[in-house]
Amino acid sequence: MMWLEEFRRLSKVFLAIVLIFALQGAHTELLVSAAGPTEVNAVAGRNVTLATPFSGAPDTSVIWLMGDVPVAIWIIDSLTPANIPENHTDVLKIEPNGSLTFVNVPLGYSSNYTVEVTVSGLGKSLATFTLRVFEIIQNVTLSSAKFAVEGADRFTLSYSMLQGVVERQTWFVNGTEINTNSHYSVEKQSLVILRPNRRDAGQYMVSLTNPFSSETAHMNVAVLYGPDDPKLEAHPAQPFYESGDSLNLSCEAEGFPKPTVKWAFGDQTLSESLGQVLNLTNIQTSQGGNYTCTLLNNESKEERHKSIILKVYERPSGSSMCYVQSVNNVTLQYYCRWAGGTPEAQLSFLALSNMSSGAGNFSLTVTATDDLDGKTVTCQAFHPLEQDKCNITASSPVKFLPAVKTTVDADDKIAVTIHCVSEATPQAVVSWSKGGEAVTNGSTYQISTDTTQLKISDYNVTSFHLQNYTCVCSNPLGSQKREFQLRRPSISDFSGLPNQEGTVVRLSWEVPPTSVVTGFDIQMKGPDLVTDNSNDTQTRGSSDKFRTIQHRPGSVRSADIFNLDPKSTYRFRVIPKALMIVGEPSEIHRIGPGEGLSGPAIAGIAAGIPCSLLFLLLLGGFIYLCVYCHKNRSRQTRYPVSRAVEKAITIQPDTIPPHNLLTGGLKSLPDYNRLQQTPSERSVALPSFVPPAPVRVATTV
Ligand SMILES: *[C@@H]1O[C@H](CO)[C@@H](O)[C@H](O)[C@H]1NC(C)=O
Ligand SMILES: *[C@@H]1O[C@H](CO)[C@@H](O)[C@H](O)[C@H]1NC(C)=O
Ligand SMILES: *[C@@H]1O[C@H](CO)[C@@H](O)[C@H](O)[C@H]1NC(C)=O
Ligand SMILES: *[C@@H]1O[C@H](CO)[C@@H](O)[C@H](O)[C@H]1NC(C)=O
Ligand SMILES: *[C@@H]1O[C@H](CO)[C@@H](O)[C@H](O)[C@H]1NC(C)=O
Ligand SMILES: *[C@@H]1O[C@H](CO)[C@@H](O)[C@H](O)[C@H]1NC(C)=O
Ligand SMILES: *[C@@H]1O[C@H](CO)[C@@H](O)[C@H](O)[C@H]1NC(C)=O
Ligand SMILES: *[C@@H]1O[C@H](CO)[C@@H](O)[C@H](O)[C@H]1NC(C)=O
Ligand SMILES: *[C@@H]1O[C@H](CO)[C@@H](O)[C@H](O)[C@H]1NC(C)=O
Ligand SMILES: *[C@@H]1O[C@H](CO)[C@@H](O)[C@H](O)[C@H]1NC(C)=O
Ligand SMILES: *[C@@H]1O[C@H](CO)[C@@H](O)[C@H](O)[C@H]1NC(C)=O
Ligand SMILES: *[C@@H]1O[C@H](CO)[C@@H](O)[C@H](O)[C@H]1NC(C)=O
Repeated sequence: MMWLEEFRRLSKVFLAIVLIFALQGAHTELLVSAAGPTEVNAVAGRNVTLATPFSGAPDTSVIWLMGDVPVAIWIIDSLTPANIPENHTDVLKIEPNGSLTFVNVPLGYSSNYTVEVTVSGLGKSLATFTLRVFEIIQNVTLSSAKFAVEGADRFTLSYSMLQGVVERQTWFVNGTEINTNSHYSVEKQSLVILRPNRRDAGQYMVSLTNPFSSETAHMNVAVLYGPDDPKLEAHPAQPFYESGDSLNLSCEAEGFPKPTVKWAFGDQTLSESLGQVLNLTNIQTSQGGNYTCTLLNNESKEERHKSIILKVYERPSGSSMCYVQSVNNVTLQYYCRWAGGTPEAQLSFLALSNMSSGAGNFSLTVTATDDLDGKTVTCQAFHPLEQDKCNITASSPVKFLPAVKTTVDADDKIAVTIHCVSEATPQAVVSWSKGGEAVTNGSTYQISTDTTQLKISDYNVTSFHLQNYTCVCSNPLGSQKREFQLRRPSISDFSGLPNQEGTVVRLSWEVPPTSVVTGFDIQMKGPDLVTDNSNDTQTRGSSDKFRTIQHRPGSVRSADIFNLDPKSTYRFRVIPKALMIVGEPSEIHRIGPGEGLSGPAIAGIAAGIPCSLLFLLLLGGFIYLCVYCHKNRSRQTRYPVSRAVEKAITIQPDTIPPHNLLTGGLKSLPDYNRLQQTPSERSVALPSFVPPAPVRVATTV
């Protein structure tokens, strides 16, 4: 049975020490092998044995080395105990077969162990073991600074644990394993992120393992960054806005934590609670300017600004306006104005100068030259929202006729007002002279502030007459001169027109342009007028003498005589007067059945009147057209419109003060009356010749 036991013991071992006896001379070799794994892991505090098989050969000595240091020496089967250094005796024990046992092995016994087996006479042999002692890993935690900061040098994430020996640490981010590379460095107990950036945010995990346990720990890492360069935009984006428009400004930038936004307009901070969108509704021009948004990272205190200039424009009011003024009667100053608006409109007179321009109200002074006379100068007015143009034409004074108006003052002075108005741009300045001497303001002569009127007041009408007056209208482009004399009261173009029945006649007359007239006496010769009222002031007299039947004021140019007896013959004339001065009577106009004229003949004449009227109307229309065309074609003398020529059908009471006697023109000039008093005008003024109601009849004998 001995051999069987021996065999069993041998069969338990995996490797056997083989003693080879080489009987060639005295040369022998001894081999020794481990009886179990040479890599041994152990949990601290447990028992562990490094096993060495023993052949049973006599005089076998065993030496265990921990690293290079011998920690146990023993001769197997000897009675003396193993030689173990004192500080190892609690832990190390030699088994009877030479194996080394560690009792409650502490962490410090992780090492390489070597066993030397020496058999007397056969030499010695070596076997090596590696013992690693581990502790169970417990309570692992990760720690780091609060945030990783983008752009910093490094961010360290380190782990700590209550206890444990780590054989292997593995790091993960978002579940992906991290390997040491240019961005990560896995160090003892920590992970270092080099130059962290915003993409490094995520969930980090460390996994710690040894052969007996494994633990993990997680941590979310946030990366502080931003604010980045803000994006400040206006919606809708436009180069400028019109007042009343609405828009919003948005200011955004990446950052963690999310940046807070502050808005400022110029130096003025706007309400803090606006958020990243600033709404501007119905903006006004005052709201145009520099808007700044400031983004702040509350954690890192990093701040970024961005500015945008909003342009808010407003149309100028109305339209542009051009005018030209005279400076010292020598130079012309062209003005262009377009008021209001933001910004002010840019104005320029390109025809005069392409160098200078102005905003809002622009003027350009140029020397008056002939080529500017009648030249249309255009002002270009440019505003971003609207363009405009205006024209101005400077022109020298045109030929003109003086107009005379005569009135009687309250103190019975006669006042003659002479107008010398010549169309000109800039307005002409008038200088007056009498008989070669300049007229100055005084009690007799008064020149209006715009110089276009000269008023002469005197008690004595004769002192006006036969004086040579001159008026000169001038502006920087030229001048026009007129000379004239005031004339005694006189009448021209006297005529009368009876109605069909021969009961009413309209008398009409004219006054030469420079005649001074304050009133007219209408005189009649013939039987007394048929009347039943006795209110009139007319003188009665015998039917063969002229007697005054009406007084008419100086402004009137016609009179109607009622209640004529169609069977009688009448003669009419008009006496012009200037206060007490009596002028030449007019021609005599006769109506009624004259010698040889029968009743039917008169009826025929009466029937012809409408036909003549129609003919006169046509003829007048033709002449008027000719005159109109002629006037328009050339810049010629313009005659003041005679407002004085009133053609009242009803009889005006004599109490109306004389007024508005307008006359004009010298005898050398074109026939004033032909131009102003065309037949058409007369005809038109006498539409149907219906006699007024009898109640209005004021004429009697
Ligand atoms: C380890 O060995 C010692 C001494 O031989 C013994 O007292 C102890 O119970 C052993 N421990 C274990 C866990 O086997
Ligand atoms: C035991 O003592 C020796 C010297 O006597 C020393 O070198 C060794 O480090 C000590 N070992 C331990 C585990 O204390
Ligand atoms: C054990 O030996 C191996 C290789 O021989 C060596 O790499 C290792 O560092 C040694 N261990 C110790 C604790 O000396
Ligand atoms: C270690 O972890 C366990 C369970 O996870 C817990 O019960 C224990 O209190 C922890 N110990 C310490 C010191 O944190
Ligand atoms: C981890 O995931 C988060 C969210 O999905 C992502 O923002 C982050 O960039 C990821 N981190 C890495 C390092 O991939
Ligand atoms: C700005 O206008 C938008 C829509 O036009 C609205 O949703 C937002 O609340 C407004 N913001 C403020 C601060 O009024
Ligand atoms: C706008 O305002 C900001 C802050 O006051 C300033 O820095 C910036 O220069 C201004 N921009 C302009 C164009 O004036
Ligand atoms: C203005 O100048 C013109 C000539 O250019 C001259 O005839 C006129 O008398 C001047 N008028 C005044 C008021 O100086
Ligand atoms: C200004 O004059 C030009 C030519 O002289 C003409 O074409 C334009 O219509 C005029 N503009 C106005 C506003 O009168
Ligand atoms: C009016 O003036 C004229 C000439 O100037 C003179 O002959 C006449 O006597 C004056 N008449 C009166 C009433 O003064
Ligand atoms: C007015 O002028 C005319 C000719 O131009 C002249 O004959 C007359 O004597 C002048 N009259 C006066 C009062 O100077
Ligand atoms: C006559 O004149 C008086 C006042 O002067 C006036 O009241 C009256 O109505 C007149 N009679 C007629 C018929 O006009």
